[in-house]
Amino acid sequence: MNIVRCDSAEQAVRHAAELLRAQVARSPKSVMGWATGGTMARLYQELVTLQQQDPLDWSGVRSFHLDEYIGLAADHPQSYRHFLRHQLMAPLGLQEAHAHWLRGDAPDLEQAGRAYESALAQAGGIDLQLLGIGHNGHIGFNEPGARLDTRTRVVRLSPRTLAANQRFFAPGEVQPQWAITLGIQTILESQQIVLLALGEDKARAVAAMAEEPPSELCPASALQAHPATTLVLDAAAAALLTCKNTERSALPAQLPP
Ligand code: GLP
Repeated sequence: MNIVRCDSAEQAVRHAAELLRAQVARSPKSVMGWATGGTMARLYQELVTLQQQDPLDWSGVRSFHLDEYIGLAADHPQSYRHFLRHQLMAPLGLQEAHAHWLRGDAPDLEQAGRAYESALAQAGGIDLQLLGIGHNGHIGFNEPGARLDTRTRVVRLSPRTLAANQRFFAPGEVQPQWAITLGIQTILESQQIVLLALGEDKARAVAAMAEEPPSELCPASALQAHPATTLVLDAAAAALLTCKNTERSALPAQLPP
């Protein structure tokens, strides 16, 4: 894992945004795996700001996304499809024709999961998967206990995740208890992974992910085995890491004598 520690949340968000832009500048038809949540809302806002300052052509990008609630229609304000269409795709000019969606309202969810995996395989896999992290170490909606060999499937959300995400639902609004998510194995097959974590409430999960022995109790710790994962952290999220290097990078191909 490369770990990029930034002094502030603003710097971390900017750094992650620049990694995404560099990927698209390098390879305009990249297959991107998008994430959602409060952290991603900040990141997408930053991408929109950078886009206004220095336009980049996103129209060739192929989009997949990480997870979706079961039972919400695509136009429900809390569906992740709605979130991504409004906060990311429309403002940056990503094309709907190049987007693949997890249909949490599909009549046959198992079939929807299989269709999604085959669309992903047909696209050649994910070039860059963006991730956040849950307080319990979840990635996507792979909750503690998720096995390493999991693929896209229906999962039940943990009480901790339900409590954390309740803030997005209006009082009295029904909050889905189930979701469909890319699996750990599917995520690990991505060429490159960028995980953004901000704030002290993520510090425990970040330390478990990066510095404790990999365990199904912290699904994000599976990323330790991935050869090209970059964690972008603000100081608060990095506070419990014992390795205090400002950046821990792969060794150069040729070491100096
Ligand atoms: C949700 C999403 C995750 C996201 C996590 C963190 O549960 N399914 O993909 O990483 O929340 O979200 P936040 O940034 O709001 O803390």
